[in-house]
Amino acid sequence: MEQDIARVLYSEEYLREAVQKIGKQISEDYKGKNLLMVSVLKGSVVFMADLMRAVTIPCSIDFMSVSSYGSGTKTSGVVRILKDLDNDLNGKDLLLVEDILDSGMTLSYIREMLQQRNPSSIRLCTLFDKPERRSVDIQADYSGICVPDEFIVGYGLDYDEKYRNLPYVGVLKPEVYTK
Ligand code: IMP
Ligand code: MG
Repeated sequence: MEQDIARVLYSEEYLREAVQKIGKQISEDYKGKNLLMVSVLKGSVVFMADLMRAVTIPCSIDFMSVSSYGSGTKTSGVVRILKDLDNDLNGKDLLLVEDILDSGMTLSYIREMLQQRNPSSIRLCTLFDKPERRSVDIQADYSGICVPDEFIVGYGLDYDEKYRNLPYVGVLKPEVYTK
């Protein structure tokens, strides 16, 4: 796995600090609220696990799964719900936790759909943001690291379902894509 990485962009150390910072902010902003953190599987699962432990106020968690990508690196524009939430959203302060905000289509679709279930509030939290690639009008309320327009893997992010378990984030060697 390591030999497929061309270079490391963000070390474990760097990621830990970014996550701690977001967790601290969320803990302040959601004091006295009914925080429900929703992780969008599978990419955000590593971030979610670290972020929820950086949050120091009571919260509950839930998961949903959608598919917006095939095995390639470009968006298909198709968002399909594979697993819905278990929680009723009434009265909840929903925080959508994503790995990366790219075109924005996935989060935009999910947010619209969940809005209709009457939560008290909805905000978006993403660890990585690629603003250059946005195709819909959407911004994260919490965002950790602004990344260049490159395909990154690790810390939950995959290429063809692999590399999610790398503890750091890096860029793949070009030959990996042609394998
Ligand atoms: P969006 O709908 O284009 O914003 O796509 C968001 C989803 O695309 C993320 O949750 C990731 O699963 C995937 N994605 C976008 N950019 C990357 C990347 O650089 N590496 C790995 N996955 C990515
Ligand atoms: Mg993905």
